[in-house]
Amino acid sequence: MIKKAAVIVGGAFGDEGKGKMISYLCKKDKPDIVVRGGVGPNAGHTVIAKGKRYGTRQVPSGFPNENARLLIGAGVLVNPEVLLGEVEKLKEFNVNSRLGVDYRCTIIEEEHKKRDSKSAYLREKVMTTGTGCGPANEDRVKRIAKRAEDIPELKKYLADVSLEVNCAIDSGKNVLIEGTQGLSLSVYYGTYPYVTSKDTSSSAILSDVGIGPTKVSEVIVVFKSYLSRVGGGYLEGEISDEEIKKSEIWKKIHELERGTVTGRQRRVAKFNFKLAKNSVMINGATQIALTCLDLLFPECSKITDYEKLSGDAKKYMKNIEKKLGVPVTLISTGPELESTIDRRKPEKFN
Ligand code: IMP
Ligand code: MG
Repeated sequence: MIKKAAVIVGGAFGDEGKGKMISYLCKKDKPDIVVRGGVGPNAGHTVIAKGKRYGTRQVPSGFPNENARLLIGAGVLVNPEVLLGEVEKLKEFNVNSRLGVDYRCTIIEEEHKKRDSKSAYLREKVMTTGTGCGPANEDRVKRIAKRAEDIPELKKYLADVSLEVNCAIDSGKNVLIEGTQGLSLSVYYGTYPYVTSKDTSSSAILSDVGIGPTKVSEVIVVFKSYLSRVGGGYLEGEISDEEIKKSEIWKKIHELERGTVTGRQRRVAKFNFKLAKNSVMINGATQIALTCLDLLFPECSKITDYEKLSGDAKKYMKNIEKKLGVPVTLISTGPELESTIDRRKPEKFN
């Protein structure tokens, strides 16, 4: 079988734990390239590496795999200050020598951030992250935005990411494509107008990095074992403050749910099958990664063997598999990379 790339995307409102899943896959599968698609620095991926917690907003979450080339696709918005700050912060991972930024990436300028946080509609209604992504995408569409190739500080990182990624796939190399946000935040398929400024489906992520759908064999959709949402917009089945107070499990979940980028409190709800079904359909999921199982089932914390999960947790998972018709191949039982159950079939994945 010809090797193809895998794409991993968020199934709902972002913050599903993609950062951890991606860094797990990078450590396990050792891809030659990890390439980031998605919107831009509005997304925060949390990665625990070398015993420390890192929140990356621009650098691909695959950085703990020190042999991988780290690329940012043309569709992604780049804030040079944020990106260069992360390169510096991740010095011990040698990111500087492995990073490539597509020369066509649109640049976020100070003025975009101002427009994002000064607009009452964006700030108070949509409750954006204030990182300037929406206004920068506006200027890209108007064809007045700057691109990475116009920024001297980015010169040494400039690359033709689509060419690099296509050549790598064609020569049998292993490529992992990471998305940001989640389908419920897509400007097309999400809870409009409470959405981000771009489509966030797997197809859009492929477009961001410049490869066609025939180049991908696996679409991994990440769901959390419950739902969380930061910012404005309706959240079906939202757990009320009263309910949170009454349940130890929800109390703990609520405490842990704070935005990586903004530090805002996230709202929480039960897993929603209608939402998940739609997400699996539009993303074309071939596998599901289920995260934070340990928060819903504390007895499963740090378990790495599927058979050792509690009966309730197994039942919960099997119900998801049955209702969505897609196998749950990866299960996260804690924030560390080691707390992962990997049920993928070895012959299919390296
Ligand atoms: P924007 O993407 O900053 O324009 O924000 C639009 C909406 O998407 C707001 O409700 C944000 O909270 C939400 N959002 C954007 N990026 C993320 C993310 O990475 N995780 C969770 N929510 C996000
Ligand atoms: Mg996040």
